[in-house]
Amino acid sequence: MRFSVISLFPGQIDAFLKESIIGRAREKRIIDIDFYDIRDYSGNPYGKVDDTLYGGGTGMLIQCEPVYRCYEDVCSSGKPYVIYVSPKGKVLDQKKVRELAGKDHIAILCGHYEGIDSRVTDEIVDEEISIGDYVLTGGEIAAVTIIDSVSRMIEGVLPNEDAYTNESHMNGTLEASQYTKPRIWHDREVPEVLLNGNQAQIDDYNRTMSLVETMDKRPDMFDKLALTEEDWQKVLARKRQN
Ligand code: ADE
Repeated sequence: MRFSVISLFPGQIDAFLKESIIGRAREKRIIDIDFYDIRDYSGNPYGKVDDTLYGGGTGMLIQCEPVYRCYEDVCSSGKPYVIYVSPKGKVLDQKKVRELAGKDHIAILCGHYEGIDSRVTDEIVDEEISIGDYVLTGGEIAAVTIIDSVSRMIEGVLPNEDAYTNESHMNGTLEASQYTKPRIWHDREVPEVLLNGNQAQIDDYNRTMSLVETMDKRPDMFDKLALTEEDWQKVLARKRQN
């Protein structure tokens, strides 16, 4: 899978995605990330790519032409699916992450300052995505978030498939609490069932606790679940114990 990042600060994104799991996936060429600096397409000796807003208002806006020239360069090896990261986009969730993981080539366009002249985004963007209802100084952190979350869904990036099939958000629930050694820490004991070696019981316990966790921490997600009568009984029994 290939990502092309179009940004005024591509180094910020590269620095973050150089290490750990994504860094290794890049070394193995399971994913490729190439970076395009909008300033390289300014056509101006000073690398200027922004200007003041028509109609007034504070700040500067990135101009159409440098972005478009950069986009044409990205397209030289085929047209990618183009995402513009902005607080006005649809908020990213795991369903969208999974969908994006099915694409071969994604280009992510990052704004900075006040953003980008709307005419060029209207012309080249397939989808506008936000990473949450707050405003960042630029789209770079959003691009990192998309690349990281999508890449880990690509086969071979994580050590085994279980790592992402059982985790939070994959089936609309949160993952049950997890524990490692020591068995007792600050008088807090690991639940007995997790030590008994009976995998069917452990799986059943984890499934119920995942529902309980979702009910407690994300009632909005819990409300969307279609629980069976048996699930309800188990959840309520656990709630009574806690
Ligand atoms: N750029 C600025 N804020 C953003 C956000 N919340 N999501 C995506 N890109 C952004």
